[in-house]
Amino acid sequence: MRLDKFICKSTDLNKHDAVMCIHDGSVLVNGASVLDESVQVHENNTITLNGQPLMARPFRYLMVHKRSQTICSNVDEAYPSLFSGLNIERTSELHVAGRLDADTTGLVLVTDDGRWSFDIIRPQKHCEKTYIVGLSQPISQEKVNTLVEQFSNGLQLQGEKKLTRPAMLEILSPTESRLTITEGKFHQVKRMFAAVGYRVVKLHREKIGQVVLDIEEGTWRYLTAWEVLSFNHTE
Ligand code: URA
Repeated sequence: MRLDKFICKSTDLNKHDAVMCIHDGSVLVNGASVLDESVQVHENNTITLNGQPLMARPFRYLMVHKRSQTICSNVDEAYPSLFSGLNIERTSELHVAGRLDADTTGLVLVTDDGRWSFDIIRPQKHCEKTYIVGLSQPISQEKVNTLVEQFSNGLQLQGEKKLTRPAMLEILSPTESRLTITEGKFHQVKRMFAAVGYRVVKLHREKIGQVVLDIEEGTWRYLTAWEVLSFNHTE
């Protein structure tokens, strides 16, 4: 990671103050002064600030149950950030691994480990995400098989060249379905249903990979070690 990020992760300094310390020569990497904040460092380097050895805090991996009318950004904008009202320290260091729309509820994975989150969201990973979808009008019994097949064969989304990857649609009731997709295009679920003539009025993410949402809306917990490592097992 960059030297300035390492300083922030091992002290209470913000980025500006970390850069100032680097520029004034207070930071040594393996005994040598380094004045460039963008230099890459790792755990087995010895890094000191004013002679004191620094140790980066361990990465954090969280499950957050996002409420509706909140956004997956660290700061409040038109809607409050999903972190508002949650008792989580140093939220500016965190980012989400796969955003949800403001009106979507459910599972959001949050971390300060950029490699881990990139590995989940990179398109080649084909990580499964499962949603409960509410529709404005019912799916008639005669259409069920055709729709399941259309989602499985791939849909042509507006503005996209390629069909969507095979998706698994399970009809739970005339207006409620469970959909599992392995992509993360912008508004993907809403656009998939729009492609077959339905409007999504409720959307909730219940699962990413093997990680299942199991906490109350508006709360969070740390992921278990098994949950963190579970993303290494699928390609
Ligand atoms: N697909 C959508 O359309 N919206 C979301 O929030 C997530 C997936």
